[in-house]
Parts: sequence; C-alpha cells; structure tokens
Amino acid sequence: MKALILAGGRGTRLRPITHTSAKQLVPVANKPILFFAIEAIRDAGIEDIGIIVGDTAAEIRDAVGDGSDFGVKTTYIQQDDPLGLAHAVKIAQDFLRDDRFVMYLGDNFIKDGIKELVDEFEADSANSQILLARVPNPENFGVAEITGGRVVGLEEKPKQPKSDYALVGVYMFDATIFEAVNAIRPSARGELEITDAIQHLIETGRDVRSHIIKGWWKDTGKLEDMLEANRVALSAVERDIRGKVDGQSRVIGEVVLEEGAIVENSELRGPLIIGAGTVVQNAYIGPFTAVSTGCRIVGAEIEFSIILEDCRIESLPRRIERSLVGKNVRISQAPTKPRAFRFMVGDNSEIQVPE
Ligand code: DAU
Repeated sequence: MKALILAGGRGTRLRPITHTSAKQLVPVANKPILFFAIEAIRDAGIEDIGIIVGDTAAEIRDAVGDGSDFGVKTTYIQQDDPLGLAHAVKIAQDFLRDDRFVMYLGDNFIKDGIKELVDEFEADSANSQILLARVPNPENFGVAEITGGRVVGLEEKPKQPKSDYALVGVYMFDATIFEAVNAIRPSARGELEITDAIQHLIETGRDVRSHIIKGWWKDTGKLEDMLEANRVALSAVERDIRGKVDGQSRVIGEVVLEEGAIVENSELRGPLIIGAGTVVQNAYIGPFTAVSTGCRIVGAEIEFSIILEDCRIESLPRRIERSLVGKNVRISQAPTKPRAFRFMVGDNSEIQVPE
C-alpha cells in the first residue's frame, strides 16, 4: 500500500500563524502535527508516501526531507492551487498508480494511529473504507447518512446534517477512486470534494465500508482544536529531565525538559514540555503547555498554551492561558508610564485582555 498526505491548502482559520508557516507544521507537544501523520503511516507498515504541497512547499520539504529520518520514502506532488481534496487525488495518480492507498489529511491528529484500520482494509476487497466519528458540530465536516449500519449518502458541510457522524480525515481507496474524482464537478465553494467522489463510488455500486472510530481525533484547523491536540499529546509524555533545574525550583509530574534548557527559581507542573535552550526564570509553567526551543520565560505564568520558537515573555502581571504564540514574539510589561497596552501585532491577530 501507499499513502498520500495532504499538506497543501491555505490554513486561513489559523491566521496569523499561517501567514508565515504551514498549518501542518504547527507543533503539538513540540512536534509538528504532520510528523504524527507520517509516524502513524509508517507504524501501519507503509513506507511509500506522496505529500501534496502548495504555497508552503519549501517549508514542508525542509522539515520532512526525503523521509529517511522517519524511515519512509517521500515524493512531493505540487498542487498550484488548493482546488480540493479530490483534486489532490487526481494530480497524485501518477504516483499512486494501481496501488491501494491511505489518504491522510495533514492537519488531522488521531491519537491511536491507523495500523488496525490499514490492516483491515488490506485484508479485504472493499473499494474504499472511510472513518467516522461522532461530533457535536457536524455542520463543519463531511457528514455521513447511515441506514441499517451502511453509509447511504455523504454531504460536505451540510447546513442541516442528517447525522452527527463526521468524516475523519483518513480515507482508504483503491484505483476506482480515479473514475470518481474524474466524474465529479466542483462544489459551491469551488472545490473538487472528496466527499462527492465517495458519494459517486456509492452511487456506482462500489463497496464503501465505514468504520466508527472510538479513539481521540481532531481536525486541528482552529486554535481551540490545536490546544486540545496539544493537551492530548502531552497527556502521553513521560518525565524526562535533560536540562538544568536549580535548587529553588519545583518540578512536579510529567515534565520533559530538553537538552540545554535552564530552569531557575520556578515551578513547573506537568504534563508539559520545554524545548532545548529555553530559559525559565522566576516563572510558573502549568499543565498542558508546550514551550518550544530558544525561548525566555522570565517573571511570567503560562498554562494550557503553545509557545513557538525564540519567544521572550517577560514580567507579566497576569497568567497567559489558552494561547498560541508564534515564533520570535515578544510579550512584556511596558517599561514606562502610562500603564497602557502597547501592541505591534501582525494581520489577523487576536488579543484578549482581562477586565
Ligand atoms: O478533518 C476532516 C474534514 O476534512 C472532513 O470532515 C471533510 O469532509 C473534508 O472536506 C475536510 O474538511 P476541511 O474543510 O477541514 O479541509 P481543509 O480545507 O482544512 O483541508 C484538509 C487538509 O488538506 C489540510 O491539511 C490542507 C489540505 N489541502 C486542502 C485542500 C482544499 C490540500 O492539500 N489541498 C487542497 O486543495
């Protein structure tokens, strides 16, 4: 079997982070979400991976390379415009040929991996296997209509969903999907929808199986979902202190402190991770927080947040929580009066201040 990871698209819901970065490279527990996908595919026994890339191709190639760091082989497939998930399948036909394959959306996070699901698909003769999960907001997903345990119809982001079963961003196909992606027309939002292609498979009598996943799954397109994925990934970390902690500090629970990180006169309450070379002084870092490499957190408190590389967060009168802070950001107290908020923030940023 082969795999096709979709790492193109625009990532508009995670702006401004995605003005400068691919959304699939935003880290949870200090590891890009895309790496979890590659590892899940590798752990399912698949080594040949095609990666669809768009505007952020250079950054994704830089991060993943030829795949050898992961024990896989990568082939990059350029998609000039994000014309839809089925369009991505179309342009990958030369790479996929007649092989059965798993298609994995590069911004999806599935906690328990996909090995069993791939094994199941490999072992039988279905043309496609889709994964479904119950969600409270089905109108934001592809939605399955199920009758007598079988999927009888699929709709992309319907205003009136016929069930609360959302399509998870992992799909398995054989070569019959190419007939389907070539037969469908663009949707109202102008994309070739994979949902419509699967509906076409059903209508033409192909064998489409569905599998309801019980484990934890998230589409990390939005901030809250990203923080949730970070929480779940951090729940699995084990204490590993490789940095330096002084005698005035307390380190409680599952804390990962990478090489060269320094903690002085601070309290760390896991699960959390602090990246290499980050300095934490007179600070509190609380549960479900991932601080990347090369940061300085001094005189500040942070909880339930993701802080990217090279940030300086200093002398804050209140705790930061439920935040995603981009690379090389400075947050500090104004050095002179008046005690006002002073900002230099990028386009599409979001700031909330307490009363
Ligand atoms: O996450 C599950 C949902 O993913 C499904 O329930 C929906 O049926 C499916 O359409 C999809 O919806 P999204 O609106 O979340 O898809 P999004 O545009 O975020 O794209 C998913 C991934 O595919 C993301 O990593 C970007 C990439 N992509 C997207 C498009 C439209 C591409 O590589 N090329 C594209 O043309």
